Amino acid sequence: MPQLSLSWLGLGSVAASPWLLLLLAGASWLLAHVLTQIYAFYENSRRLQCFPQPPKQNWLIGHLGLVKREEKGLKQVTQLVGTYPQGFMVWMGPIFPLINLCHPDIVRSVLNASAAVALKDLVFYNFLKPWLGDGLLLSSSDKWSRHRRMLTPAFHFNILKPYVKIFNDSTNVMHAKWQRLISKGNTCLNMFEHISLMTLDTLQKCVFSFDSNCQEKPSEYIAAILELSALVAKRNEQPLLHMDFLYQLTPDGQRFRKACRLVHKFTDAVIQERHRTLPDEGLDDFLLAKTKSKTLDFIDVLLLSKDEDGKMLSDEDIRAEADTFMFEGHDTTASGLSWILYNLAKHPEHQERCRQEVQELLRDRDPTEIEWDDLAQLPFLTMCIKESLRLHPPVMAISRCCTQDVVLPDGRVIPKGVVCVISIFGTHHNPEVWPNPEELHRTDVRHERDEGGAGADAAALPRAARPRGAAQEA
Ligand code: HEM
Repeated sequence: MPQLSLSWLGLGSVAASPWLLLLLAGASWLLAHVLTQIYAFYENSRRLQCFPQPPKQNWLIGHLGLVKREEKGLKQVTQLVGTYPQGFMVWMGPIFPLINLCHPDIVRSVLNASAAVALKDLVFYNFLKPWLGDGLLLSSSDKWSRHRRMLTPAFHFNILKPYVKIFNDSTNVMHAKWQRLISKGNTCLNMFEHISLMTLDTLQKCVFSFDSNCQEKPSEYIAAILELSALVAKRNEQPLLHMDFLYQLTPDGQRFRKACRLVHKFTDAVIQERHRTLPDEGLDDFLLAKTKSKTLDFIDVLLLSKDEDGKMLSDEDIRAEADTFMFEGHDTTASGLSWILYNLAKHPEHQERCRQEVQELLRDRDPTEIEWDDLAQLPFLTMCIKESLRLHPPVMAISRCCTQDVVLPDGRVIPKGVVCVISIFGTHHNPEVWPNPEELHRTDVRHERDEGGAGADAAALPRAARPRGAAQEA
């Protein structure tokens, strides 16, 4: 085996074996890699200087722990947005920067970028992956675009309209339960728990045409979804357990796996059952006939979906999309509805006004149920719902990681690879958009058809402030 003299490296007469050479090559590669990373880090830090940052805790942890949890944290976000209304950046530890976007003009630049450029950042969503798979919420790029196109018909008014009947039925069950509990002397109810059961009940009917009667008696499937949602939220707060292998060893990790299995088993069973009842041929005709006779549920829509090449979704894809709808649809709406009730309780004068509006609409009607077309006839209630969603958005923030530099309208650049947090809560509390953001605002944008409608109610809210930049306001 030839031996090489490394004297030119200053190693004197040391002779190198192939292993030594390999080691040297590996060390050089590592050094080059580390140097490249250091250079990229400094270059990124230099480019990020255009984004202001609050004082760090220290150089090592950066801004970690700056924003506390729960209500205190939200107050801190409001203060930060007041100080940095055009956005700011923070360091999560010594080397991981996060840009916080909280102004619509800036948020727009990222959201308008194509799905391939503004990738969903899975750091915050990854814990959902074993449960939701590659459903719309977690998929990205081509898969997301293909599925998004295929699922668009699911949001067509004609599909959604019949669901109002299901919403009414589920709500009636909840109201009847409240009346029963109150007549038995209960004066204190956890609204969020009751409303979550109601939204899950509704979704199970809309997605699977399955009535588990979960508002009245325990359902294993619904309990598993509630447990999964709670476990994901809990894990989010435990940085050590962000590592999969550690989490799987914990009792929570095992509970998570067990609940995932149960939820998947339910969804798979519904899909298999549908396959059994579906004809081998003439699927379209069969489903179209079904549409006429009853509500087309989400599983039907998924079974019906075809892409441009006529390819259908796999069973695994169908399960991921259905599970995603069950998750994404229940917690958000339950949180939104709970806050709306809270805000109406806090402002009895507006609550009364909403009640009058509904009673007026339903006067002399039988049955006294809200229908799809009624929704446009409730401008004051709609305004209160929107304002509640502004003050208490069910989803506080979403994140994106851009695969290219994104230029903002003010000329600043978000460097590629840096994670952006789009702060929905921050945007809704930005004083440059909403002067005195904690006060009630009119959140409707008046259109021609609203003349004499919502506008007539403007005086009913205590302060009719104009969101700066809103297209047109009464
Ligand atoms: C007040 C109610 C709701 C709020 C505030 C809300 C909020 C959001 C937000 C902020 C996102 C964007 C996530 C991201 O891009 O990172 C999202 C996505 C999504 N939501 Fe909702 N949501 C609500 C209700 C629902 C309902 C009822 C369903 C279905 C039944 C649903 C299904 C979805 C799906 C499938 C996605 C992923 C869409 C995609 O990426 O193409 N959401 N939602």
